Amino acid sequence: MSSEDGPSKKVSRKPRYSRFTQQELPACKPILTPALVIGILMCLGIIFIPIGLLALSASENVVEVVDRYDDVCIPSTDQKVGFIKDPATNKTCIRTFTIPKKMRKPVYVYYQLDNFYQNHRRYVKSRSDRQLWNPKAESSTTPCDPEGQTGDGKPIVPCGLIAWSLFNDTYMLSKNDAALQINKKDIAWRSDRTHKFGSNIYPKNFQNGTLIGGGKLDESIPLSQQEDLMVWMRTSALPTFRKLYGRIETDLEANEKITVTIQNNYNTYSFNGKKKLVISTATWIGGKNDFIGKMYMAVGGTSIVLGVIFSLLYVFKPRPLGDPSYLSWNKSPNLD
Ligand SMILES: *[C@@H]1O[C@H](CO)[C@@H](O)[C@H](O)[C@H]1NC(C)=O
Repeated sequence: MSSEDGPSKKVSRKPRYSRFTQQELPACKPILTPALVIGILMCLGIIFIPIGLLALSASENVVEVVDRYDDVCIPSTDQKVGFIKDPATNKTCIRTFTIPKKMRKPVYVYYQLDNFYQNHRRYVKSRSDRQLWNPKAESSTTPCDPEGQTGDGKPIVPCGLIAWSLFNDTYMLSKNDAALQINKKDIAWRSDRTHKFGSNIYPKNFQNGTLIGGGKLDESIPLSQQEDLMVWMRTSALPTFRKLYGRIETDLEANEKITVTIQNNYNTYSFNGKKKLVISTATWIGGKNDFIGKMYMAVGGTSIVLGVIFSLLYVFKPRPLGDPSYLSWNKSPNLD
């Protein structure tokens, strides 16, 4: 099969005819006529504004009480850090507030921290998820260093800075001198309880060092039931955050006086953090938050305003669609 001497047949390079190669496929070519644009804008407005109103009214119905206590639950000296670090001082603090509006159960109790950067890179990484779940991986504490092992080399369970800095203020609520039960069950994510924190893993060597970072854990309770720890270890993305402390399963009536007995243990004073107790109801949008409602209103409102402006232009200064005399080179043809 030599092709050297035979006359080579000329092969046509022309593509075979097809509607694809000739770019003749049927296609939708929408033209943004004024009526279509105005219609779309109006529809957006009509859809978005009611959603915004609904969200705003839901947020309006949330009853929320926020009480900052870190500044009042401490003697007004400049020895704040010394006071909070001293295990001998009495850190009990009593706060009272009035319920502004009826709060239907369940009423959620949160603690809110300000200026606490749980999103710091080295903080976020300082945990060992293997160790939390796998009983054989007790000693896999590498990601936790330097909070991975005790001084004499025993693994800490749960290891890492996040667990070590566990929040340890406690609240006891009462109304009219009767204790209000706070239910702390099921405050963590279900997936955390069933897939992240093992039911056969028990805290070990935890918070045993000389420097205590936060709360201690009961060594007889498996991690899968340490819900405060799970809530704490879902690190927050922003420096101001709320975490669920528990639920009150009774209604609170308007003007009822609530007394909170706080154990003000947690040291936010060395980094100027704030601590707040939040009691709040929730609706379908969650807690009190006007942002989403306002955002929907803004988008819907802008659409309506633009729609109206375009309609007015369309009515009072109409202009034929696709008129070539508006092209710049037709408008001033004698430029050259
Ligand atoms: C609570 O945490 C602080 C650190 O923020 C620690 O100094 C203190 O000893 C802890 N107290 C208790 C009772 O766990």
